[in-house]
Amino acid sequence: MTANTRMAMGTLRLLAFCMGLFFVLSPARCDSTEFDTIIQGVTEGRTFTLGMFVFGDSVLDAGTNNYFPSLLKANFKPYGQTAFSKPTGRFTNGKTYADFFADNLRVKSPEPYLARTGTFSVNYASGGSGLLRTTNAANQVIPFPDQLLQFAQTRLTMIQTLNSEKLVQLVLSKSLFLINIGGNDLVTYFFDPSPGKPPLDVFIANLTGEIEKSVRVLYQAGGRKFMLLGLGPIGCIPAVLAGLQIPDGKCVEPANDVARVFNAALEELVLQKLPKMFKDIQAIVGRPFDILRPLADHGEAQGFTEGVKACCGYGLYNAEVQCGLAPDKILNPPYNVCKNVDAYLFWDYFHPTERVYSIGAQQFWNGGLDAVAPMNLRALMEL
Ligand SMILES: *[C@@H]1O[C@H](CO)[C@@H](O)[C@H](O)[C@H]1NC(C)=O
Repeated sequence: MTANTRMAMGTLRLLAFCMGLFFVLSPARCDSTEFDTIIQGVTEGRTFTLGMFVFGDSVLDAGTNNYFPSLLKANFKPYGQTAFSKPTGRFTNGKTYADFFADNLRVKSPEPYLARTGTFSVNYASGGSGLLRTTNAANQVIPFPDQLLQFAQTRLTMIQTLNSEKLVQLVLSKSLFLINIGGNDLVTYFFDPSPGKPPLDVFIANLTGEIEKSVRVLYQAGGRKFMLLGLGPIGCIPAVLAGLQIPDGKCVEPANDVARVFNAALEELVLQKLPKMFKDIQAIVGRPFDILRPLADHGEAQGFTEGVKACCGYGLYNAEVQCGLAPDKILNPPYNVCKNVDAYLFWDYFHPTERVYSIGAQQFWNGGLDAVAPMNLRALMEL
């Protein structure tokens, strides 16, 4: 690269960054102070994140399901009470991994696509969704393949706005693509009693094959930096224990085994296959199983005195009815809400508390190979 090209690239990057901020935040935020900071950053050779695009299910949903008649919602009390003082549609008491990563990356927390005010920090994740269109179709969710179509629409808007596909490619190559998907497909598979269902390894190969196809689509659109999250210990989810009427609060190991097999296949895809298939791709895989399982087994040392029961809900393990709903499933008390949510691993029948997401996010951001491979998120975004 000649000095001139480098300078041109630098200007392009500044321009892209400022334009990105223009739409992500507000024109006022791209002021001279911020401009100076960016110039300093570029001069020092620091890299920075231009955008953030989030795909998947309720682990990352920031309110998508509020905006169409889904039967899987979390936009009522007491969801969101810890971080937002109001329900947002997030399926926890506060922030998710996506929110914590946005804080780390100093970008605006990605907004639901259906309620977006900008173009460079968008969240397509839909609670209940899976890779397969059939997963939770009766509950009305936005399946993963349709989330990709929504991203394609976003990208068209970007091209119109920046009036340059090259610039859009550049912005996307400096953006984070965060994906958490597969859990709902596998929980559905686990509880499917039909004798004709495919063997687990065949089913999982299909799921990871679908993920591979999706990464190809996002790569061709310009994405280079990907983080895929593995599955947590789904056999320790209160709804799984309650669904099987487990009396002793012990995790359901056959369900955890499903997660282990999926995680191994996902890791092979991310760590072995993707780098061979796609030039310059930088993909990392998060290992929530290895972070959360020890907390489920002996979290007392870290203040998690309740690792089985959901903080909020009703019935066995507070997990037979969704948090915020009465036993007859209308919106209203009586439901149970714990007093000290930070002592709980689970907020509701399916989802961790904000404190658990916070611990996981910190590990993914800054942690070692026990949490994220082949490098952590901070290293990925500094590349
Ligand atoms: C997964 O299974 C579906 C339904 O049988 C099929 O249409 C799809 O092509 C499969 N995907 C892969 C990657 O094998």
